[in-house]
Amino acid sequence: MKAAILREYGQPLTIEQVELDPPKAGEVHVKIEAAGICRSDLHFMKGEARINLPAVLGHEGSGTVMDVGPGVTGVKPGDHVILSFVPYCGRCHFCLTNRANLCDAHAATAGVLFDGTTRLHKGDQRITHMGKVACFAQEAVVPETGCVPVGKDVPWAQAALIGCSVTTGVGAAMFSARIAPGSTVAVIGAGGVGLNVIQGARLLNASKIIAVDIGEGKLEFAMSFGATHTVNPTIQDPVEAIKKITGGVGADYTFEVFGSPQTALTAYNAARKGGTVVIVGLAPIGDVAGFDLVSMVRQEKTVKGSYYGSTRPAVDMPTMVELYRLGKINIDDLVTRRYKLEDINKAYQDLDGGEIGRGVITQF
Ligand code: APR
Ligand code: ZN
Repeated sequence: MKAAILREYGQPLTIEQVELDPPKAGEVHVKIEAAGICRSDLHFMKGEARINLPAVLGHEGSGTVMDVGPGVTGVKPGDHVILSFVPYCGRCHFCLTNRANLCDAHAATAGVLFDGTTRLHKGDQRITHMGKVACFAQEAVVPETGCVPVGKDVPWAQAALIGCSVTTGVGAAMFSARIAPGSTVAVIGAGGVGLNVIQGARLLNASKIIAVDIGEGKLEFAMSFGATHTVNPTIQDPVEAIKKITGGVGADYTFEVFGSPQTALTAYNAARKGGTVVIVGLAPIGDVAGFDLVSMVRQEKTVKGSYYGSTRPAVDMPTMVELYRLGKINIDDLVTRRYKLEDINKAYQDLDGGEIGRGVITQF
């Protein structure tokens, strides 16, 4: 089958024919129908995040079940599924304490399936599977617990986005921050994930929702997802601007949704006394942000990380699907560009070049 392969950091992906072995026990063979263009993959392409190479990236996907390995009971051929990039083991401390997004068994087997091996290879060269999803390919073999069944009424691209940006962004607002009604919110970075934090804040009845982005087009687009105010840090100091909009005090909740020490510091400094700072973006490995410790103590700020929106993907993705069906979250308008798998490098140039919304591969 055809897949986009990352062979070297800093190099374009190459479209190649590779082999995909049949599913083993507890695994599912999926035909990929849609795969979103997310910045997390770009972090790997740039070497800002690390995975054993060669690798098939792609972690925001949806598809049709083709066949299942021994013991699989949760899905059957023909089912439509959203792919989760944190499948769960169901037995570790985190799975058993309602935090399946932090599953230990998954973290211990990064880039390979739960049994420590890959199904992807080219001859005798093994190829790793990003997030046990690897959906920049025509097909994938994934763990059963990485398949979240979805109704056939949900279009493929929208289902794929629930696999990462929607769940990560809306989840950050809903579960990581637990935004209280009426509170003020600032979101630093209004890309695919940030727009979902913004619409999550709207869903939770925040009052002022401030979108912060270096792209004017991004800011305008963010207004249609619930932003009430916009700030462009290339034009004005973002911390001063957020304080001004919030009556001089700063926002109750701030979210960092780009992935850099600089934007994390903006989020920290723009939070009010007693405020909560949620870090969603993945900064390059090894980067640190220097928070002023005295202000953290005297102003009682909370800084927390948010991975996969602090969700339990298997139970919270169906909730996202319901919110979408009810029109409470808008996924249709997030999908702004569609690509063929062959054009994946162009898709990533568009993402890095500042195109609005989310690109999705829908032709394999
Ligand atoms: N200040 C504010 N916004 C910025 C800045 C900055 N200094 N620099 C970049 N941005 C904006 C970009 O213009 C873009 O709109 O941040 C946004 C990031 O959005 P995307 O590129 O669409 O990335 P996305 O897929 O949303 O991922 C964001 O979340 O899950 C993580 O790994 C992911 O770190 C990434 C982050
Ligand atoms: Zn993602």
